[in-house]
Order: sequence, then structure tokens, then C-alpha cells
Amino acid sequence: MKVISLPVQLDSSRCDKAIRASFLHFNDDPDKSLDSWEYIEDGLLILKLGHVTALGKADDWFDFLPDGVEFHDFTGKLIMPGFIDTHTHYPQTDMIASHGAQLLEWLEKYTFPTEAKFSDINVANATAEFFCDELLRNGTTTSAVFATIHPESVDAIFGAAQKRDMRIISGKVMMDQNAPDFLCDTAETSYEDSAKLIEKWHGNGRALYAVTPRFVPTSSVDQLRMANRLRHEYKALYLQTHVAENTDEVAWVAELFPDRRSYLDVYEHYGLVGERSIYAHCIHLDSTDRKLIADRGASMAFCPTSNLFLGSGLFDLDSALFNNIKVGVATDVGGGTSFSILQTLNEAYKVSQMSGQTLTSMKAFYLATLGGAKALSLDHKLGNFELDKEADFVVLDLESTPLMERRMDNSDSIQDKLFALMMLGDDRAVHATFVMGVCRFKEGRSTCQD
Ligand code: GUN
Ligand code: ZN
Repeated sequence: MKVISLPVQLDSSRCDKAIRASFLHFNDDPDKSLDSWEYIEDGLLILKLGHVTALGKADDWFDFLPDGVEFHDFTGKLIMPGFIDTHTHYPQTDMIASHGAQLLEWLEKYTFPTEAKFSDINVANATAEFFCDELLRNGTTTSAVFATIHPESVDAIFGAAQKRDMRIISGKVMMDQNAPDFLCDTAETSYEDSAKLIEKWHGNGRALYAVTPRFVPTSSVDQLRMANRLRHEYKALYLQTHVAENTDEVAWVAELFPDRRSYLDVYEHYGLVGERSIYAHCIHLDSTDRKLIADRGASMAFCPTSNLFLGSGLFDLDSALFNNIKVGVATDVGGGTSFSILQTLNEAYKVSQMSGQTLTSMKAFYLATLGGAKALSLDHKLGNFELDKEADFVVLDLESTPLMERRMDNSDSIQDKLFALMMLGDDRAVHATFVMGVCRFKEGRSTCQD
């Protein structure tokens, strides 16, 4: 793998921080390239103003660090680019792990009543603060997040992220039918509220706005048109939504739109499949749908804990790879049952087993880092430790439990260690999380500078 070439002059113009640890990162999909990852057992990451200046062997550079550099010694720990969660819902934090329903009933019984509480800005702010801390506690530094229909809920999540300098993609949910009245906007108000939020937040610091129609059943044709209009009126917006998650949902969409070839074709018909469009679930698709997603440069969010918890089905990762589709992993809290990307990879592996597929540890961690960055069209800014990338990273303790300690002792390759990490690890394996080169979580504390 070609990474940053040496030598660099390690003077203070290029270096204000240095971090020593083991490092792993990717420059390509391990299923496509034999030279897709770099592992440095004793490495040094050099930063300047929150961006990567260099990554190399500690032996080569350690003695040449300029005076005054802030130094963090994580020898014995493994650093990876911050995890990327390509689809989740912060307002569903407090209803995670609610028993016994599949998607449509679950929405009625748990989701809509919970989201109704976000008309109260205090609820929104408190939940957003907790949610961002929980992301960091789990090593997640970038996330595409649903808010609710309430514009203030978007202010809350972007505000909480901005305090921590985190890169968050979010947007106001658009929903004007087939939901309780207290959770419905209209096509016009959803357009107006979204436009105001876009002007306030899109590109404000690290915030990026996503036009967010919840899913086809809860948007009128007029509202789908408004979503398309927003995408044309403002540059480089995202679109995030759900598609083909559950068979009853798919049947409902077929009833609502009998003239459309498929669920995805409804979005396509209204111009909503394109670059920076993130489609969550993508389970009950056919080959024409997959080809369309690939041709349009849209992305899939693979939500294994949610797909299993809600009994929705098995995501076909190999078909996505075969079609060259950008895929990221996603927690989909609160349909998903964990904030941990490690636990998400654990379940992703089991989904692949159930489908007769093989998810290697390298592929899994690619999906959680550079693959996720590509799925969010952010790979020019983050996802690995290439020169000038934003320095978001997670410091992992591979021996965070007695069992992991024993298992790691019994391991002789980095691939095997990573596999044990994704199967046995959870938030306890996250020793620290850095955002733009600043330590925002360490050893159980939510904010730190050391
Ligand atoms: N489809 C429409 N809304 C939702 C949601 O909130 N969660 C999940 N998992 N699927 C959805
Ligand atoms: Zn979702």
C-alpha cells in the first residue's frame, strides 16, 4: 500500500502532535486489492492542526520530533481511523431494545411516540448530547443521523456535534402521511423548514445536511417532489432514507405505487437516487435495483443488528460488491441494538455466515472506516491516514477483557486479532477517541485533553 512517502521535515511547521501506537488503515477494498491495507506495529502518526502530516515507523522519526510537540504514547494499543456509522437515529436512543415487533408495528408502538417527545427542545438537546458522547465512547467519529420532523431536533444534533467538532450528516425528517397527526408536517412546511436548516447548517463547520424523507409510505408525492427540489436548489446535499427493509413494507409500497417497478423505482421516479444518497437496509432488492444504485453512485447502509432485531432479513453483501456498490456499516439505533461498530461487525459476520458468504476481518474494518467514508462521499477528507486527512481516530485496547487477553495470546496474525476484536470487542475495547486530533474520550471520560 502506498501511503505517505518519507522523508518529511519534522519541523514545527508540519508537526504539532505525535501519537505512538500500532496503526492499521486501508487504501482500498480488501476484496478488490491484495495491497489494500497497511499495518505498522510500532508507528508514529504526525499531525498538524488536526490533519495528518505523516504516518511511519516510530524508530525512523521518534528521535527527530521537534521541541514542544504534544506527544501521546499509546504503545501496546491499536489505532484505526475513527469508525463511520452510515445510518442511525439519535431520537431513538431511549427506545433501543424495545421488545417484540417487526418494522411497521415497531414504528407505531415505539418509534412514533418516542419521536413525538422531540417537539421539546430540552429533550432534543439532552438526547443529542448523550448520543454524541455515546458515539465517541464507541469510537465512532462520523455518522449519518436521522433527527425527527421537528426543526429544533436538527439544531440539537448539529449543535452537540459542533461542540465536539464531530462530522455529522443529519436532516429534518420529512413525513406528511401515514403517521400520527402530531408527527406530520406538510409538503410545503417540510420544504420550508428543510431549506432554513440547510442554510443554517450545511457546510457550517463539519456539519452536512441530508434531505431526509423517512421512507416512501410516509411521504406524499408532493413531498417526494419537494425533496427532489431541495436537492436541485442547494449544492452537494445528501439524501438519506430507508428502502426495502421489510416484506410488509415492500408490499405496502407496491399498493401505494402500483405503476412503479419496485420500491427503489419510486425514489428513482422522483429523482432521489444519486451521488450522496444513502439507502438504509436494501434487503429486498433485485438485480435491476442493485444495478440502478451502482449506476447512480448511491450508497447502501448495511444495518445487521437492526435487520436481525426487527426480523427484517439478510443483507446481501456479496451482491453489493459484485455490482460495485458503495457500502458502509450502520448501527440503525434504535432498531439496531448497539452503538458499537465492533458489535455491528460481529452481527455482520453472522449475517454473512447465514448467507453462505465470507466476511473477513480486513473487509469488516475496511467497511467500518474507508468503506464508510466512500459510502458517505467523504473519502477525500477522512477514512484513513493519508496526507492532509482529518485526524479522526480510535485507540483500541485489544485486551480489554480477561477473555480477550487470553484470546489475543493465542493469536499470531493481525487478521486473526482483528477478527477476535470484532467478535469479542465492544465499548470496553475503545480506550480513547480523537476528533480532529483532539482527544474527546479517554478511559471512560467523555472529554479530555492530555
Ligand atoms: N423505516 C422507516 N422509519 C424507520 C426507522 O425509524 N427505523 C427503521 N429501522 N426503519 C424505518
Ligand atoms: Zn433507520
